[in-house]
Amino acid sequence: MKLSKLVDRISGEGAEAWDIHVKAQRAADEGKDVIVLSVGDPDFPTPSPIIDRAVTCLKGGDTHYASVPGRDTLRQTIARDFEQRTGVKTERDNVFVFAGTQNALFSTSLILLDHGDEVIALEPMYVSYEACLQIGGATLIPVAQPADNGFRPDINLIKAAVTKRTRAIVITTPNNPTGVVMTREELSAIATLAIEHDLWVISDEVYTDVIFDGEHISIASLPGMAERTVTVNSLSKSHAMTGWRSGWSIAPKSLSQHYDNLALCMLYGLPGFIQEAAIHALTDQRDASLDMRDIYKRRRDLVCHELAKAKHLPVLKPQAAMYVMVDVRHYFENGTEFSRVLFDATGVSVLDAGAFGKSAYGWVRISFTLSDESLTEACRRIVSFLDTLA
Ligand SMILES: Cc1ncc(COP(=O)(O)O)c(C=O)c1O
Repeated sequence: MKLSKLVDRISGEGAEAWDIHVKAQRAADEGKDVIVLSVGDPDFPTPSPIIDRAVTCLKGGDTHYASVPGRDTLRQTIARDFEQRTGVKTERDNVFVFAGTQNALFSTSLILLDHGDEVIALEPMYVSYEACLQIGGATLIPVAQPADNGFRPDINLIKAAVTKRTRAIVITTPNNPTGVVMTREELSAIATLAIEHDLWVISDEVYTDVIFDGEHISIASLPGMAERTVTVNSLSKSHAMTGWRSGWSIAPKSLSQHYDNLALCMLYGLPGFIQEAAIHALTDQRDASLDMRDIYKRRRDLVCHELAKAKHLPVLKPQAAMYVMVDVRHYFENGTEFSRVLFDATGVSVLDAGAFGKSAYGWVRISFTLSDESLTEACRRIVSFLDTLA
């Protein structure tokens, strides 16, 4: 039977990199001695007051259709929070509630990008961008953030990629997988380009609350940018709430009606009890988020310290997020092969960073979403494995 052309647009190249993760997760579920460092799901439980709030709402009957754009209180809470952090005047109608950053990005892509349009995204980039940005028929133009530049954006490369068809630039700060936090200068250069060519900027800021070094700047806060920027974010990483699918977009009010039309036929509102839990997370559970960030910082330092014991293994110390990038080119040409051999020899699963873009070929991404003990043991296994290769 014939299928739609969409099925091709959503089948990205990155899928193979996940094979090791799937294998490792299966082995972990069977109780085997494996250490899974190939996924970015926080190991912390969602703070219990947030869970309690959801349970109370469920028991109280908050189980019916909820407001499609999101409840006023939640939208106002998100708006206030964003305004306080960025100084950008933000009101309820700038905020639309979605099922995670992923869903906000998907919806934004459908609303802003058409067949024939080009959308620039800086790679390494989150694996699902490829399908998400091309879902409506636009063409993704990946622009390198080169490894020898510490995976930082290079404005000349971005400029060179702009054509008459370019409609938007997608940035991720902090970045997954590199942990790079963009500076004001870097963001200003992108903003200038966006204004000059009348482009949208879509800014994925899902790791905002997991920064160790550097300052988070939302590109929307730069002059002339709020009216052309869509900022997407969620509680997934900040509050260990990946499974709750609680996210949003912050955008010019003119997009609100279009989001509404799309959400009416796609999502029909996030469950009310999740929205109430999200309000609680954003108002009363900020400290929980800060505590998690401090633990991630300690783990980042631990992993970098332990991996420094290996010979010929350059490690990029991340400014943010929950991953360490490691250059394995001394041992293997590509990260997929390294990950496969490492897993078979040691039971430690890491992810081929090449799945995030060409700039990261020959690198792997190691998540620090496990306890200090597990991370120390994983690093010990990696270092002694590399010793045997040497
Ligand atoms: C850069 C980036 N964007 C979006 C997402 C998806 O986040 P959410 O759970 O909010 O959909 C992730 C998840 O790892 C991510 O790393």
